[in-house]
Parts: sequence; C-alpha cells; structure tokens
Amino acid sequence: MKTAGGSADAKRRAGERAAEAVEDGFVVGLGTGSTTAYAIEALGEAVADGLEIRGIPTSFQSRQLALEVGVPLTDLDAVESVDLAIDGADQVVDDPDSSAHGALIKGGGAAHAREKLVDSAAERFVVVADPSKLTTRLERPVPVAVLPAAHTVVADRIRDLGGEPTLREAEGKDGPVVTDNGNLVLDCEFGPIDDPAALAAELSALPGVLEHGLFVDLADATYVGREDGVDRRDYR
Ligand code: A5P
Repeated sequence: MKTAGGSADAKRRAGERAAEAVEDGFVVGLGTGSTTAYAIEALGEAVADGLEIRGIPTSFQSRQLALEVGVPLTDLDAVESVDLAIDGADQVVDDPDSSAHGALIKGGGAAHAREKLVDSAAERFVVVADPSKLTTRLERPVPVAVLPAAHTVVADRIRDLGGEPTLREAEGKDGPVVTDNGNLVLDCEFGPIDDPAALAAELSALPGVLEHGLFVDLADATYVGREDGVDRRDYR
C-alpha cells in the first residue's frame, strides 16, 4: 500500500531541508520511503563533502540507499543516543486546534515497526512530507504488523474494535507481504479516526501485534515541501 500523490520536487525539497538540520557528529535515523530517500541522498552528498555522521536505517530499502550514497551506518544497540530521525509519513494531522496535531499514519511501505523504534529513540524526530499527506483527521487504513501465526486472531480483535482488516498482498510474489522482520501486515480501515491516541493504545494492547502505524505524540516537526519552498510545522 504505497501512498499516491505528491510531486517529486515537493518531496525533494522537504527531504533536502531536513538533511540540512544534520550536524557534524550526529547519529541519524534514516526513515523509509520516497521522501526520506531525498534526505538520504543529500546526506550522502554532505558526507562526500566532509560531514561526519552515522546513520541507522529503518528498512532494507533505506540501508541499501545509504550504502549506495556512502552514508556510514551503525545500529541502535551500538550508540548511546540518536540525535535526529528523518522519516516520511502517509498522513499527517495538520490542525493546530486538534489534540492530534502532528499525529501520523505510517507503514505504507511496511517498515513502520523499525521506523517507530528508531524515530521514538531519537532526541528529535522530523517528518518529511508533501502537501498531499496533510489532513485534518487521519483516515487512511492503519497498517498493523502481526506475527504470522496471529493474523487471524488479530484480525478478529480488529473487527471487535470496529475496524475492517485486509491482509496486505505482495506484488511480484504469491501470497502476503512479509516485512523485513518476517511479519505480515493487516491494513485496517477504521474510517475517520477521531482519537488516534486511544486507538493506538488499543492496537498496542493486542497480543500478536508487533507494531501499528499510528505515530502519536512522536514527531517534533514536519517539513512540508511545496512547489516553491518548504513550510515547517513545530509541535513542541
Ligand atoms: C514506510 O513504511 C512508510 O512509513 C513511509 O515512511 C511512508 O509510507 C512515506 O513514504 P513516502 O515518502 O514514499 O510517501
């Protein structure tokens, strides 16, 4: 389930602006997706120009790209702290009057388990997005990564919560998407989500759920790339 929409120029502006926030000596969380890819490429260029950083990838894809562009890598268990995480989103609540301002849906690329781990470990987590991701209420299906043996049981519990789960099917492979961590993904339609924090807590409490794609109260800021520049939203 990849996200539709958003121009490459807008994504590139957001990604490059976020990369500018990376300072010498930083440990950087490297998110996943087409927008973060621009940040990783910009970091590769900065490293070639002498910037000394280490990246922690959140997926096979972001690791491959970082290796390709020359960003030195490390692991979460090999560092004392992560200075900054840069990551994309499928939806971002953009409503300063809402208690959910800055809440996200992630997991369109099925990388949300490691993304949440790295993004939440970072001192600062910035989202990179194009305007197509902004919304006043989260309403995309919520990706839920589950242990393979748990997918039917978790699907039943999701229905009990009022959701409609669909096992994500692979493209180019028979059967389901299998994540980098060996899990399956249920895309769970809840309609408009009025209280993402409450739903996040309910999903987290289900046995067999490895991680869900609701990121509530995690992001510090969003860089929104536009055709003519970058807007910044600060949440703290
Ligand atoms: C990966 O699982 C997702 O959380 C991505 O970060 C999200 O889908 C954003 O990707 P794009 O920048 O490609 O839209």
